[in-house]
Amino acid sequence: MLNPRTKTGIGMDSIDPARITVRNLHIDEYDILIRIWDTAGLPSKPKGRDSREHIAREIQEGSGFFLVAELGGKIIGSVFGTSDGRKGWINRLAVLPEYQRQGIGHVLVREAEKRLYDAGIEIIACLIENWNAVSLQAFERMGYVRHDDIIYFTKRRSPDV
Ligand SMILES: CC(C)(COP(=O)(O)OP(=O)(O)OC[C@H]1O[C@@H](n2cnc3c(N)ncnc32)[C@H](O)[C@@H]1OP(=O)(O)O)[C@@H](O)C(=O)NCCC(=O)NCCS
Repeated sequence: MLNPRTKTGIGMDSIDPARITVRNLHIDEYDILIRIWDTAGLPSKPKGRDSREHIAREIQEGSGFFLVAELGGKIIGSVFGTSDGRKGWINRLAVLPEYQRQGIGHVLVREAEKRLYDAGIEIIACLIENWNAVSLQAFERMGYVRHDDIIYFTKRRSPDV
């Protein structure tokens, strides 16, 4: 679902980044996280890698970091950073529609980038589905270089993962 204001392509005033707290997600906030993804129109795999159990395990094992953006005590956005040791990955970036185009996505990405750089990672990547024109544009605006020459291959143990 898109914010009608964003459909116009007209940007809005940014929220002062000092008003936004970016912090680790607590697993008790899982339902809020899923609601943000649903509301932002980000497809998820609730029976697979986006299940509560899976995310709880990832947080516990430290294989990635789930960050949320909070404004006035309300969670309004999320991002998930991972590292495979060679590259860092930005995943699951989402901002509630009514708060989009005010710099919150960028604040989340900057914090994820900082954590990955601090961990010694020097290249950060992101996979975006080709229908997602807003995200394609947003990542280009945030300094990411698009690679149309790369085709993504996966092998899945089940369609749910
Ligand atoms: C992608 C998304 C997270 C961006 O969040 P946001 O808070 O609106 O992003 P920001 O306001 O920080 O904008 C970051 C940059 O992207 C650009 N941008 C954001 N939305 C845009 C849009 N609809 N059209 C064009 N550019 C856009 C901004 O202009 C900004 O660049 P600038 O600083 O040079 O102006 C948000 O649109 C969203 O939640 N989308 C649905 C979920 C999704 O598809 N996530 C991607 C999965 S990887």
